[in-house]
Amino acid sequence: MELPKITILDEKNKILHQKSFEVKFPVSKEDQKLAEDTIKYLKMSQDEKIASKYNLRAGMGMAFVQLGILKRIFVIANKNDNGSFEEYVIINPKIISQSEELIYVGEGEGCLSVNRSVDGIVPRHARITVEYYDYQGNKKITRVREDLAVAFQHEIDHLNGILFVDKIDKKNPYKNANKMREI
Ligand code: NI
Repeated sequence: MELPKITILDEKNKILHQKSFEVKFPVSKEDQKLAEDTIKYLKMSQDEKIASKYNLRAGMGMAFVQLGILKRIFVIANKNDNGSFEEYVIINPKIISQSEELIYVGEGEGCLSVNRSVDGIVPRHARITVEYYDYQGNKKITRVREDLAVAFQHEIDHLNGILFVDKIDKKNPYKNANKMREI
């Protein structure tokens, strides 16, 4: 399997701090291809052998802005326990409800645009319901929880020009950790 050629921008690039624009339908063939290539890239990055061969960091999500395209699209490839993947292409998402309960990833969040280790917690809702569109512009709704909910919130932040490192309190990186559940 050949690794799709995509270029991921680093956090130093100012475009990552810009807000992405709503997408018009139907989504262009070019953007559909990019979404599918990016999913393939993410799946390959989660395979240890392939990752070491190509020197890839494992990632489960990517927003188009990380590829330099300011469109409100992100993709997720979430590996199940049996090794299969749940794939999502999420366009023009909107969080329509969220749990009061907050969680954070104990080992820290990662981002393919942030090439350094960052200490601290990022509060996320444990469950969210998201409205979004498919390539043809059909409205969809999904409810996600736990690590998948974290991934969705991380990617939606990208669409608004926000990186996970921006959400960590610099003076007190573990602020309020005792008020949230660690996952
Ligand atoms: Ni990211």
